[in-house]
Amino acid sequence: MSTTTAQKSDIANPALAAEGKKRIEWAGRNMPVLQQIKERFAKEKPFKDVRISACMHVTTETANLMLALKAGGAELALCASNPLSTQDDTAAALVHEYGISVFAKNAIDRDGYYRHINSALDIKPQFVFDDGCDLVNTLHTTRTDLLDGILGGCEETTTGVIRLSQMTKDGALKFPMIAVNDTDTKHMFDNRYGTGQSTLDAVFRATNTLIAGKIVVVAGFGYCGKGVAERAKGLGAEVIVTEIDPTKALDAMMQGFRVLPMTKAAAIGDVFITVTGNRDVLREEHFSMMKDGAILANSGHFDVEIDVAWLEKNCKVKNSKMRHQTDEYVLKNGNRILLIAEGRLANLGAAEGHPAVVMDMSFSDQALTAEWLLTAAKNLKPGLHNVPAEIDKDVARMKLRSMGAELDVLTPAQELYLNSWEHGS
Ligand code: ADE
Repeated sequence: MSTTTAQKSDIANPALAAEGKKRIEWAGRNMPVLQQIKERFAKEKPFKDVRISACMHVTTETANLMLALKAGGAELALCASNPLSTQDDTAAALVHEYGISVFAKNAIDRDGYYRHINSALDIKPQFVFDDGCDLVNTLHTTRTDLLDGILGGCEETTTGVIRLSQMTKDGALKFPMIAVNDTDTKHMFDNRYGTGQSTLDAVFRATNTLIAGKIVVVAGFGYCGKGVAERAKGLGAEVIVTEIDPTKALDAMMQGFRVLPMTKAAAIGDVFITVTGNRDVLREEHFSMMKDGAILANSGHFDVEIDVAWLEKNCKVKNSKMRHQTDEYVLKNGNRILLIAEGRLANLGAAEGHPAVVMDMSFSDQALTAEWLLTAAKNLKPGLHNVPAEIDKDVARMKLRSMGAELDVLTPAQELYLNSWEHGS
């Protein structure tokens, strides 16, 4: 479909629509599970007359999720969940090729970012999709007038789930939110393989450095950290992990990684990647120890993990945009520090985010959870909830089928054995 109807929108450049459409279709080819769901939605129209506001990275993969929901009858308004992750061609195509409202421009400032969230909320949504919890936060702080109309929503990422569980503990969350991030088919694959590959992709695109022979320091050994560490090791790096959790640190050790505190790792590393979800992971005491030419990238959701403000204030010289999304800070000791994507999440700021193949599962989880919420929301208390296990397993089954794999099945005797307790040695 090609439409020039002026959907309410604020995007950078409508002329990019044709290019965006080609890339959205390319991603769609690699999202077979979501396509299957979209075809069913198109027949059944489960979202007829349902308004959904979504605050997500405006990428070709998200575009395919939007198209599946639209096929199901939803009225949509999409805004960005990060100022640097918007793909302007994708935004243009969504508006001008597919007739979806989008409020997103790459490299928007903070005011513009929140203005876009507010614009996406102006449709008075019944359901929300969030990635990082900024939209839900806006609803609970400045758009409380809309709260009564909200039936529920889905949260995509670890950081958002952490914020929502805090809101739930404080009794602040006024409607049910579903932790899509916590499904196995999301975090075991998207966080691990998606963040792992796309973060290193960002380092390549930004610096074109060779990873083989380098010392890569990975801060945080959650699923994202594991992914980054594994990919860096596979490329020939020596990997050092920093952790505050003893079990995760042990896991890293037994996978063959060195575990050190950042105060020791800082002097040794060549490339530093933060994926902790916490602030000030790399700060003054570390910068001053780093080698000349150290490369820093953050793939945590917010730009708080690297103390960029300190670099800005204390560097002798800043050489902006030395290469694609790479700023160079020359410190007073003469050493140069290379910062990728301004310390914002590098995999979306300097590369294209997780590949469509893996987002296929995350966004199928989103689509099926939203469909389930249509009827389930009224029976759920305000607060954070899990995705029903059947949705998670269904997505895994569909993905396996799309990859040509076949599951084994239990014999009746095996089924009986697993469901009994009388057998001993
Ligand atoms: N988060 C990480 N990668 C993404 C992508 N490709 N699209 C949307 N959200 C993402």
